[in-house]
Amino acid sequence: MTEIEAVIFSQAEIAAAIRRMAEAIARDYAGKTLVLLGVLKGALFVTADLARALDVAAGSSVEVRLDFLGVSSYGNAHRSSGEVRLVQDTSHSIEGKHVVIVEDIVDNGLTLKYLMTLLGGRAPASMRAAVLLDKPYNRRVNVPVDYVGMTCPDEFVVGYGLDYQERYRTLPYVAKLRAEIFTPVGEIVAT
Ligand code: IMP
Repeated sequence: MTEIEAVIFSQAEIAAAIRRMAEAIARDYAGKTLVLLGVLKGALFVTADLARALDVAAGSSVEVRLDFLGVSSYGNAHRSSGEVRLVQDTSHSIEGKHVVIVEDIVDNGLTLKYLMTLLGGRAPASMRAAVLLDKPYNRRVNVPVDYVGMTCPDEFVVGYGLDYQERYRTLPYVAKLRAEIFTPVGEIVAT
C-alpha cells in the first residue's frame, strides 16, 4: 500500500507475541474461568487471536469467556486526551469474575486507567491488563500492564486493529504511515 512508509511489526512477529502472552496467561489462570474483555474497536483482532492462542497454549486449562466494551476518547488523532467515553458496555456482569482487559496499544495510559477505574468498581475477583503494543515514552499515569506483547517505537502506528481516521484497521501487520497522510485537525480517536 502506497500510504505505508514501513512495516513495524510483521504478521509473524505479532503471532509470536500473542503466543507468548497466551503462555503467560495460561500459567497464571490455570484451572480458572477467565473473562477476556476486549476493548473495541482496536483490540478486536488481538482479543480474537489471544483467545484462540489461549486454547492451544501448552497444557492450557483456562476456561475462556469473551466479552467486549467500546470506548472513544477525544484527542488530536495521534494521542488520546484521557476524556474517555464508554460507548458500549459489556454484555455480562464481571462481578466475582477474573478479568483480563485486552487493549491494542497503551501510550499515555489514560484510556487504560479509565477502564481500570470503571471496571475495578464493579467488584471483579481480579483484574489485569494485556496489551499488544506498549509505547512507554509518554505515560501520564501509572497504570500496571501485566502482559505486554511488544514495545512499540515512539511512532503513530496503524494496522492489526489500529486506525487512523477509521482507516487501515484491517492491515494484517502494524505499520507506520507516510507523514503526508496526516491532517492536523482535532477529532475523535476511535479506540
Ligand atoms: P492512551 O490513552 O494514550 O494510552 O491511548 C490508548 C488509545 O489511543 C489506544 O487504544 C488507541 O486507540 C489510541 N492510540 C494510541 N497510540 C496509537 C497509535 O500509534 N496508533 C493508533 N492509535 C493509537
